[in-house]
Amino acid sequence: MGHPAAVQELKARLAAARSVAVLTGAGISADSGVPTFRGADGLWRTYRAEDLATPEAFARDPRLVWEWYNWRRELIVTRSPNAAHYALVDLERRVERFWLITQNVDGLHPAAGSQKLSEIHGNIWKVRCSQCGHVGTNRAVPIPIPPRCPTCNGLLRPHIVWFGESLDPVDLERSFSAVRSCEVLLIVGTSGIVHPAASFASLAKEAGAFVAEVNLDPTPNTQVVDVAIQGRAKDIVPALL
Ligand code: OAD
Repeated sequence: MGHPAAVQELKARLAAARSVAVLTGAGISADSGVPTFRGADGLWRTYRAEDLATPEAFARDPRLVWEWYNWRRELIVTRSPNAAHYALVDLERRVERFWLITQNVDGLHPAAGSQKLSEIHGNIWKVRCSQCGHVGTNRAVPIPIPPRCPTCNGLLRPHIVWFGESLDPVDLERSFSAVRSCEVLLIVGTSGIVHPAASFASLAKEAGAFVAEVNLDPTPNTQVVDVAIQGRAKDIVPALL
């Protein structure tokens, strides 16, 4: 499991830090049985996420995009947080200043109990009206297609940040400020190619943080970080505490 010396060093850094930021991606939920986006199991029918998670795809064929989200809802509703999600709740309670930034929309971090959290790509259990902008929680599985806004009857869309769309400025500011001011940045289970999260490792390094990566495979972040631990999130992250 990972390199023992690297695990020990990161463990000591985390224990000593008063300020920790964590960035997670689909890899942390892979151990809960949620397919990642870029792995072999990430495909739905013959589509790639990049072709469905866009405003253009939704404008062209809202039914297709909702069918994809229904497939993901059906899958995620049966999944639970794993040891890595729970370990991060533990870490949040131990560290004076803590912020968790996740690119995941599956809601497994809040389900585990994380509170100091930005879901920068949104949440699959929230919907937004494409006409009046109303945001609400909707846990229907499957959601009847086409879903309609309870207030204005407009077409509802997933409350998710799609490719080509901007992140919420409050989430963004909070995340950048956590990354720039942390003593330790821990990056778990992300391929490190989707911005802005892809830039967090170098930003934190430039600001003087100790940066660590936990991933099954090497990523573009591996070259940037102080320690890279290869292994499964559910094995490595709990061992860091
Ligand atoms: P990816 O699917 O691109 O990458 C998942 C990463 O997790 C890969 O680097 C894997 O090596 C790693 N991995 C897989 N299983 C693991 C395990 N058990 N333990 C540790 N690591 C593991 O997912 P993201 O980087 O999260 O956007 O993708 C970023 C964004 O692109 C997503 O948020 C999504 C997607 O399109 C939206 O939905 C808007």
